Amino acid sequence: MSIKTAILNGVCTIEIARPEKKNALTVAMYQAMTETLKAAHSDRAVRAVLITGQPGIFTSGNDIEDFMKRGTGGQGSDVMDSPVFQFMRALLECDKPVVAAVTGAAIGIGTTLLLHCDFVYVSDEARLAMPFVALGLVPEFASSLLVPQLMGHRRAAEKLLLGDPFTPEQAVDCGIANAVLPAAEVLNHARRIAERFNHLPPGAVREAKQLMRGPQHEALLQTIAKEGALFSARLRSPEAIEAFQAFFQKRKPDFTQF
Ligand code: COA
Repeated sequence: MSIKTAILNGVCTIEIARPEKKNALTVAMYQAMTETLKAAHSDRAVRAVLITGQPGIFTSGNDIEDFMKRGTGGQGSDVMDSPVFQFMRALLECDKPVVAAVTGAAIGIGTTLLLHCDFVYVSDEARLAMPFVALGLVPEFASSLLVPQLMGHRRAAEKLLLGDPFTPEQAVDCGIANAVLPAAEVLNHARRIAERFNHLPPGAVREAKQLMRGPQHEALLQTIAKEGALFSARLRSPEAIEAFQAFFQKRKPDFTQF
């Protein structure tokens, strides 16, 4: 199992632990994270959720081999039922505060999921990137709405169209992250933030969180559905297939033919 979970001192921790594949997320890992989020949602003993990775890597995003299987009609080819969709829905619906400790690179959904966390602390060694277009794909899970809102269209174009990586400082500057911490301290800092919810009234926290997301909720869901349909079709596109094959063949993709 590449997802480790634990409940300690009111905090449910989800640790992504597949370092040999740079914490790439598989179907089984999304399913494990979904179950844990749902259990945390209804467990009175859990006051906050903490999501973390391994030293040097938060997650390299969706497993690209799984992308290829989905593109050819494998498990999860119906986007609304796919394990990644269910995981993101559980994250959106989690009424407990969610804290992310970004221990290293956060790529693709690794950055997208941060947009749906309540607190994000980033290691000074982390890099964030959303290279969907370079993979022949489109932005996902409302990042096409939230990223331009956070940083304006021009800076969002650098991140979403060019796929330029951004530094931890830039992540704080544009409001994706709360603070940059030395790599050795980021997890403990995030845990201390999560543990503060042991001393706050859970009902008020829950309702305040719902209110904060309320006005945008419908727009988020509509955008997610629209992006999901395009993303799913794009997984089967010749552009994406070229990008996936190039990744595993450790070469640059060639888009000149399109
Ligand atoms: N899916 C599947 N396998 C992945 C992966 C992913 N998203 N990311 C890394 N891996 C695998 C590599 O294929 C490699 O496997 P191998 O040892 O069998 O060859 C192993 O993990 C180590 O990755 P490698 O690329 O050699 O490590 P690195 O330190 O040079 O680079 C990253 C790390 C994260 C920068 C790089 O792996 C990367 O760019 N990954 C893909 C990110 C991506 O595009 N994600 C999808 C976004 S939508």
